[in-house]
Amino acid sequence: MKSPETYLLPYASISWQDSDTPFARDYDDVYWSAAGGLAEKQHVFLTGCDLAQRWNLLQDGDRFTILETGFGFGLNFLLTLRAWNACSRSSSARLDYIAFEKHLVRPEDLQRMASNFGLEPELDQLIQQYPLPVPGNHCIWLSATVCLHLMVGDIHDQMQDLEAKVDAVFLDGFSPGLNAEMWNETLMTRLCLLLRPGARLSSYSVAGALRRSLAAGGLTVHKLKGFGTKRHMLLAEQSGDWQPDSSQRLDVVVVGAGLSGLLCADALEKRGHRVTVIDQNSEPLGALRQINQIAIYPKLSKTPQPYSNFYLRAFLYFLRHHSLNACGRIELLDSDDKQAYGAAIAAQLPGFAELIDPATAGLALALKVESPALRLKSAGWIAPKTLVTNRDVLQGMVRSIEYKDNSWYLNMAEGEEHKASIVVLATGHESLPQLAPLALISLRGQSLRLQGLDIAPETVFSAKKTWFPISEGSTTVSGTYDRFDDNLTPRHADTELLLEALSPYLPSSSDKPSLTAGVGIRSATRDRMPVVGQLPDWDKLEAYCQQAPVLRNTFKSFAPGLYCSVGFGSHGGTLGPYCAELLTRKISGDSVGEDMSQITSTRFMFRDAGIKPS
Ligand SMILES: Cc1cc2nc3c(=O)[nH]c(=O)nc-3n(C[C@H](O)[C@H](O)[C@H](O)COP(=O)(O)OP(=O)(O)OC[C@H]3O[C@@H](n4cnc5c(N)ncnc54)[C@H](O)[C@@H]3O)c2cc1C
Ligand SMILES: C[S@@+](CC[C@H](N)C(=O)[O-])C[C@H]1O[C@@H](n2cnc3c(N)ncnc32)[C@H](O)[C@@H]1O
Repeated sequence: MKSPETYLLPYASISWQDSDTPFARDYDDVYWSAAGGLAEKQHVFLTGCDLAQRWNLLQDGDRFTILETGFGFGLNFLLTLRAWNACSRSSSARLDYIAFEKHLVRPEDLQRMASNFGLEPELDQLIQQYPLPVPGNHCIWLSATVCLHLMVGDIHDQMQDLEAKVDAVFLDGFSPGLNAEMWNETLMTRLCLLLRPGARLSSYSVAGALRRSLAAGGLTVHKLKGFGTKRHMLLAEQSGDWQPDSSQRLDVVVVGAGLSGLLCADALEKRGHRVTVIDQNSEPLGALRQINQIAIYPKLSKTPQPYSNFYLRAFLYFLRHHSLNACGRIELLDSDDKQAYGAAIAAQLPGFAELIDPATAGLALALKVESPALRLKSAGWIAPKTLVTNRDVLQGMVRSIEYKDNSWYLNMAEGEEHKASIVVLATGHESLPQLAPLALISLRGQSLRLQGLDIAPETVFSAKKTWFPISEGSTTVSGTYDRFDDNLTPRHADTELLLEALSPYLPSSSDKPSLTAGVGIRSATRDRMPVVGQLPDWDKLEAYCQQAPVLRNTFKSFAPGLYCSVGFGSHGGTLGPYCAELLTRKISGDSVGEDMSQITSTRFMFRDAGIKPS
């Protein structure tokens, strides 16, 4: 994806015509004709692509992938969802629905459409999870078997991040005369490359240029009878017999029962894989073993950057798929620079971030503060253990791993050996040789649990340190940082530092709380983004980067079956669930619409060699 220019894209500008047909002012066209709507979409797309027949052939674990150009009101999607919910296919088959949209329709316009068409039950499934118009991929699980990938932004940009094997395509841009970029040859060539054998593509348009592009892309193109008064519609087919896309049930070993390892294990199991988690410690949750409250919020830069947009999408993914104590987060802006930062964020993310004066901040916090603040109302905190499944973990330390005869061998400190075809290293700051080139940084952090304190903020409060609301009689303050330090013994100086951060808000007469210090070691990368995905063959990567000028990355030598999920710094809670979903998609060979260059393991060597990520 190209660098985002704004945090939020504008919503579609819509006027409703007399017959309650929506009209797109940006494109000067209707979303569907007054005579069309449901029946037309059903005829052209669902029947055209033979969905019902094909879904009947799906077996357990099979997936079916639909790609749509132009999500619009989601009419095609909601009809597809209705048909999927009603059809008697195998219960564990999955539907991936990938849709591109540059101008998301506002939720209130979606509701008007749904009540006109009687699609309220299907829209109800979607509306709770409908994203803000943040550019990029929004991965939305609507049920255990349906995942919508709403790719927000111009289709040509978003398409660059898509890896998919597609069974059916709905071409549903506005009319080619008014919306040429949705039909052009470049786009059709790209689409054709994603099709599985026997895949079908349908459209209401039979424009000559479109038919020629699809034929040039290798498809057989037919004109069929159109809907209603329309003479024709288009159906194109990829060569070959269509067969269901079966996914393999894999045996995966996850090394590390910290937050990221446990989240990966949950996501992998949800996808039907068999997972074994190994950890050297008898207690799970790694760096968070002794920490009861962590903050969940997106890290935002003053102007949108690829990383901050990734944070926003990951945060929205968190909100959709996990629950949190949504008390909000207030960040004190106690300098001119911080206030300029807060004002810039609030201006760019209206409704999501707001700049509040000291009185309003004080009221929300139930503490007296002297500075303005930035409030994120949908942020909050969680107890780390509530985010993951409580599972059996095999206790043992993996000393080394080795690839031979198409398998990974995990050599344990205790002498035994485990064999696996897929391994995920979620080892935090403790690097095995396969992770050494990432040069992970250990960042020691101390937190304090305070019991018997009756003053605490009512939202997550970030000032000098982060202070949490009272829960079950205690409150947490955390946020010390010591680089290259992995000493787990609590330090008196850190305890003093944490208490000092609270002192402006506590009356000197208040009772002394009882204190429990907890220490954890974060693992960080040099760009402060995690590393998630398959690991490269490091020698081949190094040789590749030394080649005479390679401008664009075409590197393909990855270690078979070896993945990692490390380097989450202070944000494993916010980023972890989305990263686990992405990793699971990669391992399972599912569609991925995310800009993985933000988190790929190869990025540091590529950047050092001046090579653009692909
Ligand atoms: C004081 C403090 C406050 C924090 N606050 C927040 C917050 O508010 N919000 C937030 O999102 N994040 C917060 N974090 C960060 C969060 O803790 C991390 O991002 C997250 O825990 C990273 O999880 P992980 O699974 O990647 O690594 P870890 O938690 O380090 O887990 C790695 C696991 O791998 C195991 N392991 C390593 N090597 C081996 C081996 N060779 N064999 C077997 N097992 C092995 C370890 O024993 C460990 O259990 C905080 C961290 C600290 C220290
Ligand atoms: C005819 S409408 C789609 C109707 C939709 N399929 C439905 O069922 O409601 C076409 C959609 O394409 C979107 N669009 C147009 N140009 C685009 C582009 N370059 N990239 C992404 N989406 C685009 C428009 O915003 C519009 O929502």
